[in-house]
Amino acid sequence: MAVDERDAKEKDAKEPASSLGKLSRRSFLSHMGAAGVATAATAVTPLAVSTAIAETQERTAPQTQAIPGTMPVTLKVNGQSYSVQIDPRATLLDTLRETLHLTGTKKGCDHGQCGACTVHINGRRVNSCLTFAGMQQNVEITTIEGLGQPGHLHPMQEAFVEHDGFQCGYCTSGQIMSAVAMVKEPWGTGDSDVKEAMSGNICRCGAYPNIVAAVQAVRRMA
Ligand code: FES
Ligand code: FES
Repeated sequence: MAVDERDAKEKDAKEPASSLGKLSRRSFLSHMGAAGVATAATAVTPLAVSTAIAETQERTAPQTQAIPGTMPVTLKVNGQSYSVQIDPRATLLDTLRETLHLTGTKKGCDHGQCGACTVHINGRRVNSCLTFAGMQQNVEITTIEGLGQPGHLHPMQEAFVEHDGFQCGYCTSGQIMSAVAMVKEPWGTGDSDVKEAMSGNICRCGAYPNIVAAVQAVRRMA
């Protein structure tokens, strides 16, 4: 291999590492965290939501109508109304993710044990894996996509970024949805109260101290 060609390859190999090295943990988390804490919220603008809805309805309605045994449901999610055909056994979690393509709500255990699937129903936190979608018509469903938007995060999302309240981020949308509802519930003021109130949300990465710090920061603002 010619010397010039080898030098060029070595230069190319070094450049990505050096540019990554310029990122501080804080700036990296601020960018990735915004995506993590808002998950799909950071990627889904109202326009994108409406586009997704139209595409989803166009794609799924003819297909699901052709499947015997499905039922029509109308769900109000993040202020938008969705009319779809679903299996009567479909959970709210699966309907949000698989039919409405709102994938910010995560599936961890699918058994009501981890809290990753937490959404709000009429403002109260609920494990969406434990309720049938067909039972949630005529209620207000809020997912992480409806909480904040890029450049306009919910204070709880901002607090999670500020306090590094996540690592891999898989539990984070559930943690934030749970925390937002928890702040309005009649809990005591101590860290132990936050830990008890948030005990239904498991974090495999063990980010608990920072999650508590984020929740307490928001509670102090209230
Ligand atoms: S996925 Fe619903 S509680 Fe774990
Ligand atoms: S941040 Fe990884 S599971 Fe909670």
